[in-house]
Amino acid sequence: MAEPSSLVHYRQHAGDYDASAQRTMALRRRTIAMLALQPGDWVLDVGCGTGLSFSWLLDAIGPGGALIGVEQSPDMLALARRRIATAGWNNVTLIEAAAEVVVLPRAVDAVLFNYTHDVIRSRAALDNLFRQAVAGARVAVAGIKHPPRWLDPFRLYRRFKSRGCYDTTEGLDAPWDRLQELVPDLQVESTLWGTGFIAWGRYRGVSPE
Ligand SMILES: C[S@@+](CC[C@H](N)C(=O)[O-])C[C@H]1O[C@@H](n2cnc3c(N)ncnc32)[C@H](O)[C@@H]1O
Repeated sequence: MAEPSSLVHYRQHAGDYDASAQRTMALRRRTIAMLALQPGDWVLDVGCGTGLSFSWLLDAIGPGGALIGVEQSPDMLALARRRIATAGWNNVTLIEAAAEVVVLPRAVDAVLFNYTHDVIRSRAALDNLFRQAVAGARVAVAGIKHPPRWLDPFRLYRRFKSRGCYDTTEGLDAPWDRLQELVPDLQVESTLWGTGFIAWGRYRGVSPE
């Protein structure tokens, strides 16, 4: 099977990722706040990349909580590992796997998708992840989307800015719609002049055995 183009992209650009993500740090913080994390929670960071969200997630769950980072790019994950070692965090577990097949050590209380368009467009990934989340798990998402049609130049900008980062550009008009099947109370807010969004809600499902 052909290698996903995003794996090739992050092999070449993992080292530049943190600098390129700086302009969305304020949004990241808001998105994480939407998880309403509590001390002791188990939180899943899907497509965690280099671990740019880790410090805020860990502050919220405290030493009694646990953070699981799932990431398919070994190059991004190597930087996440380095970040953990530098900070000396001992309640973070990293799993190198695709979201479609990952097996978590325990059901999670909260799930973060920060700029993971490929994952939120994959039914297989969403089904696999939410099978491993408690009923009522809190969900927060930030991501890319198309602005309205009348802002056509921004659509070109959107495609230009995200070239190579994602395997699919399918579903950019409403990237959250598959997630909404599992999180029916999902609230969506447009960001970055319509080229982005954040969304939050609760997983409607039943708890895993
Ligand atoms: C734009 S980066 C975002 C990284 C991180 N969430 C952040 O906010 O900084 C997208 C990440 O999702 C990862 N990814 C894409 N598809 C994935 C999948 N199916 N399973 C796991 N990780 C995936 C990519 O390798 C990449 O690291």
